[in-house]
Amino acid sequence: MSRILTGIQSSGSPHLGNVLGAILPAIELSKQNESFLFIADLHALTTVKNKNILKENTLATAAAWLAFDLDTTKNTLYRQSDIPQVTELMWYLNCITPYPMLANAHSFKDKSNRLSDVNAGLFTYPVLMAADIILYNADIVPVGKDQLQHLEITRDIATRFNFLFGDTFVIPNAKTDQNNMIIPGTDGQKMSKSYDNYINIFESEKILKKQIMNIVTDSKSLNEPKDPDKCNVFQIYKLIGTQNQIQDLEKKYQNGGFGYGHAKKELLDLIMQKFEKPRSNFYKLMKDPLIIEKELLKGSKRAQFVADTVLKKVKDKLGLS
Ligand code: TRP
Repeated sequence: MSRILTGIQSSGSPHLGNVLGAILPAIELSKQNESFLFIADLHALTTVKNKNILKENTLATAAAWLAFDLDTTKNTLYRQSDIPQVTELMWYLNCITPYPMLANAHSFKDKSNRLSDVNAGLFTYPVLMAADIILYNADIVPVGKDQLQHLEITRDIATRFNFLFGDTFVIPNAKTDQNNMIIPGTDGQKMSKSYDNYINIFESEKILKKQIMNIVTDSKSLNEPKDPDKCNVFQIYKLIGTQNQIQDLEKKYQNGGFGYGHAKKELLDLIMQKFEKPRSNFYKLMKDPLIIEKELLKGSKRAQFVADTVLKKVKDKLGLS
């Protein structure tokens, strides 16, 4: 049995991209494996500088995992900051991480034309991510395509440590989901909080509708036949609908007499219907955050146990104990 581990950064409440790209595939995997799933609130601190927003986002992220019925009797759901060993390990890893490796990371490079906006946390983001993974002996890390470079960095750091100090860490493998590699947002780019192009399935119907109505389409008139493959609404629909639903919608596009407004309405209806149960679970949990806190406490105890064992080994190898 492999140990699966993945994190979701809590810089916003999880959107459809997080749900389809990370939460659902990880829950599927967790059924046959032992999973460690966590809310990366320390990573979120690189951008979020508001106590209430950070707390709210962390709870909402945990609630999203629970809303999709993650089985927490056998899997470990925890908050990254509840296990301070991870920041301790990060320091040790910092001391063996070559500067150019971090300077080449996309997460930093993309922002390096405005260096005054880059904090050191953003620069060392990949090292904390490496610590997240190797502290728990993870074998497989399901991530989106945009995180593959971070996984390479993790493997490099772990290999380097093992080389310098002797066999200590498991070298993890990334796993990307072929089908859902990139979830398009309302403007056709990757769905992301930072592009403000997301659809949040846990929002009220009113806000959800507004987000869907914002999906960018071309200006073909209602009567004209349309190409579904060139339409952002259809691209998102395709990720959620059943085969029959997808084919039906495809025909409507091709036949004409069907406007983008209609397509958006169908997408909204599909989301409301498909996610009815998780939405209601989510609202219940957010109304009673103590249930969420209890789950996180349970997870952190299990995570703590593994973290202590690995960190002890690390300190011993380094000559710190
Ligand atoms: N950086 C990841 C993202 O933005 C989140 C993350 C943090 C993560 N630590 C991790 C993912 C460890 C996998 C494993 O998506």
